[in-house]
Amino acid sequence: MSELDKLQASCLFEIENCDNLKKLDALKHAILGKNGKVNEIMKQLRYLDVDHKRKLGAEINSLRSVVTDKINEKFCVLEMKELDKKLTSEFVDVSMPPRSENIGKIHPLTKVEEEVASILSSYGFLFADGPDIESEYFNFTALNVPDHHPARAMHDTFYVHRLADANGRKLLRSHTSPVEIHAMLASSPPMRFFSIGRVYRSDYDATHTPMFSQIEGIMIDKNTGFAHLKWILADFLKRFFEVESLRIRFRPSFFPFTEPSAEVDVNYEIRDGKMVFGVGDKWLEICGCGTCHPNVLKYGNIDPNEYQGIAFGFGLERLTSLKYGIPDLRGYFEFDERWLNTFGFHHSAR
Ligand code: DAH
Repeated sequence: MSELDKLQASCLFEIENCDNLKKLDALKHAILGKNGKVNEIMKQLRYLDVDHKRKLGAEINSLRSVVTDKINEKFCVLEMKELDKKLTSEFVDVSMPPRSENIGKIHPLTKVEEEVASILSSYGFLFADGPDIESEYFNFTALNVPDHHPARAMHDTFYVHRLADANGRKLLRSHTSPVEIHAMLASSPPMRFFSIGRVYRSDYDATHTPMFSQIEGIMIDKNTGFAHLKWILADFLKRFFEVESLRIRFRPSFFPFTEPSAEVDVNYEIRDGKMVFGVGDKWLEICGCGTCHPNVLKYGNIDPNEYQGIAFGFGLERLTSLKYGIPDLRGYFEFDERWLNTFGFHHSAR
């Protein structure tokens, strides 16, 4: 066996037995590098004559190519092995239970706000808004509330005396009805608007909070009248409570901004301590409504001889409590996570 054959055999042997990439890299340098074994032999060629040089040169080149192939092949094998090792050690256990996440819940008022908005929008009502800090003029005067009306008294309304201007004292609006005036002034009939927003009254017990929310609706056209009001409220309440058999009753009432005015009741019965709507002959008051007082239309720059309007107002928390069985009104505003976990809705239930 010639020296070259021996060298080739020993190189191949070492390569074959090499078991990691780092060692293989070192081996590659030791054999094929600038000062490696192959080059060492090359250097000796200069002492030989031309014929031997040519012959030996060819043999060394063949050795170099055999060894290079073997090294490259080994690189592939070791890289694959390393990758396999990595994949096994980084194995993802898809059967592992996920880490629990603390996902928030939808506040019941948000849920009901969306339900109400969706039904009213289906009648062509557009959303209208007004400020929480109103003036006496919009909150009372333009709604035909007389100067001596008890609702104007300090007892019910939060006044902000410092901010009085031409429209009277500023106050925290005590209902959403002033939005009716803003909507009338901002557009012209025929019009259909609804609003949902916060209102404020100086009151606090299980069924009253100083801040609560109302839903307001107004529709004005040449022939709009009580029949429209009846149809809209009956349909709205059936859809809202999801009870087709729901009956409603209009009871004569008084509001300064509507004439005639009515309060609407829905029928219910107590079954197993729970209120069930649409059965039985007990009645529960649910909203105030009426046909717009001519003075209110005038304040809204609308000619009452040409146009008629209907309007209605609900308490949002009341609707929510009745539909979803939420007992104490105060819970809505205490921002207690335990309350929200009990009465809130999952995002998927939206
Ligand atoms: N604003 C009234 C309230 O706060 C509710 C109401 C009654 C609104 C009759 C209306 C209505 O639009 O027509 O008690």
